[in-house]
Amino acid sequence: KPRIAVFASGNGSNFQAIADAIQNGELHAELVLVVTDKPQAYVVERAQKMGIEPFAFNPAEYGSKAMYEEMLKGKLLNHGVEWIVLAGFMRLIGPMLLSAFENRIVNIHPSALPAFPGKDAIGQTLAAGAELAGVTVHFVDAGMDTGSIIAQETFPVAGRGRAEVEDQIHAIEHRLYPATLQQLFSR
Ligand code: GAR
Repeated sequence: KPRIAVFASGNGSNFQAIADAIQNGELHAELVLVVTDKPQAYVVERAQKMGIEPFAFNPAEYGSKAMYEEMLKGKLLNHGVEWIVLAGFMRLIGPMLLSAFENRIVNIHPSALPAFPGKDAIGQTLAAGAELAGVTVHFVDAGMDTGSIIAQETFPVAGRGRAEVEDQIHAIEHRLYPATLQQLFSR
């Protein structure tokens, strides 16, 4: 079973879906660490409730991305982490972690990449009047949401409002992410 760390900056509903899938036996992995750059994020509480060690750090207390990533790398290697799973982690991963976890970092993004990378992808999708909204799971590289695509699901926006589109995206994410990770880990 691969040992994984989930990185999250917010609510952590995708962390929850992954932790639940592990508990249900649908995803064969050991979730050994939850990392957040936002000590107040709700994901910290979720991790505690699931009995998984949360690790919160404040990037402002480090001189640079390389410095906090060096600290994180030590932490991850200490825990025997093999895969990093980004779940709403709102920072670019730098060379320090990319080289330590080559082809072992994945992300989920709320658009049909390569359309609408970056922040507020759902808002971007709606503002552009795009036909399709979607969810993409991809490998992480040095770019912003540019790594190779592992899985993608799209659906027509068809005049629906933001709340409805958001709900559908989250429902897809919570199913697609654990299923895609299971495929990835078993190949
Ligand atoms: C998810 O919709 C995820 O796709 C998105 O943040 C949300 C986190 O929700 N990620 C990005 O936008 C990354 N650029 P959660 O905290 O409830 O899992």
